[in-house]
Amino acid sequence: MNPSESNPAPEPSPTVSAGTFDILNRRKFIGLGSSALLMAALTVPRAQAQNIEAVTAAQKGASANNPGPENGPLRDINPNSDLPPPTDHGEAPEFWNSFMTAKRRIQDGGWTRQVTVESFPISKDIAGVNMRLLPGAYRELHWHAAAEWAIMLAGKARITALDNDGKGYVKDVAKDDLWFFPPGIPHSIQGLESDANGCEFLLVFDDGAFSEGNTTLLTDWARHTPPEVLAKNWGVSEAALENVYKVPAEGLFIFQRAVPGPLEDDQHAISTGKGRSPVAFDFPLHSMAPTHENKSGQVRIIDSKNFPVTTMAAAHVVVKPGAMRELHWHQTANEWQYYIQGKGRMTVFFTGGLARTMDFAAGDIGYIPRAFGHYVENTGDTDLIFLEVFKEPHYKDLALSEWLTHLPPQIVIDHLGISAETLKAIPSTEVIVMPT
Ligand SMILES: [Fe+2]
Ligand SMILES: [Fe+2]
Repeated sequence: MNPSESNPAPEPSPTVSAGTFDILNRRKFIGLGSSALLMAALTVPRAQAQNIEAVTAAQKGASANNPGPENGPLRDINPNSDLPPPTDHGEAPEFWNSFMTAKRRIQDGGWTRQVTVESFPISKDIAGVNMRLLPGAYRELHWHAAAEWAIMLAGKARITALDNDGKGYVKDVAKDDLWFFPPGIPHSIQGLESDANGCEFLLVFDDGAFSEGNTTLLTDWARHTPPEVLAKNWGVSEAALENVYKVPAEGLFIFQRAVPGPLEDDQHAISTGKGRSPVAFDFPLHSMAPTHENKSGQVRIIDSKNFPVTTMAAAHVVVKPGAMRELHWHQTANEWQYYIQGKGRMTVFFTGGLARTMDFAAGDIGYIPRAFGHYVENTGDTDLIFLEVFKEPHYKDLALSEWLTHLPPQIVIDHLGISAETLKAIPSTEVIVMPT
């Protein structure tokens, strides 16, 4: 049981929330004079404060002892689950997961691991894959029904695609470059020589049920087509295709070959016929200036406005030690997060008094259901870097500060019981990362 649940809830009050002032409470207050109403109103914040104080005290005393078996390393990387902020309440859904607990499928040439709705039930509309390819190794030619948003985490790779007009595309991508392949667009990825000895990247799919085990692989499809049909389709002899039928029943998926030659040679090779695709399937993240920047960090927003091919919006966020991504929400889309570097904590407010704080580190995944309030605070001593990815083409958010400073001031003062001076100190524009 959450410690706060053992304490009596404070009496509701008409000053706390007009929306929660139900009929029962109205009856209770009928007949009270104005001074009695004022006293009742003043009592409520004090009662709430005592509730939080009681939980805080319990956490510091014997009530918080845990004499039973413990997984110490796991406890120590989740301090906000072991000793939650007293403002947390109730049993909120899990919104933490990690590639670090996902099974790695290791093959000759690299590995892959994924977090889908199977292991992360809250994330019904987005799945993530983390993959590594040695120099020359392929993620084989394939396509899938889900859209693929990607960022290179380390090293270099060569990507290929065919656009909707049947024109070819080939490009080399390096650390922090993005790419996006719409549904049904066939593509491949091949590791290149680099200081990371190949590459590692993150793939984000706009379907929580997506699985790397269920994509249309070139060798898988060819291997499951009768040889006489395949020969007739291409106008070649069956003998010329004998190696097609020697691949495993599930296709090659990841496999090692030689490092490719210069990019220019490959670009020239695909220029025959219709010519090269004019579509920019890739986006170099650091070619753009930060969308927002101050002493506490910076944010780059990449969506269909500056990366036209994408139907998935994203934000690349850097938060300095001690700073935080401010309290905000996204009006229309769920947020899927990936932590690239550093340590942080996030509280998600699930409405109805339900709130939970969880800790995040490199390799972890977070998820915030649409329109639920949250913040991300850097709890480490290095820059915290994370991604926000959304299954919608345009990035949208609203900040709590932005809302409160665009209301008639008295409305805010009446709700929060703060002074006019305090309200004036709240930033009146969205700053993204605080303090300014
Ligand atoms: Fe793919
Ligand atoms: Fe967010």
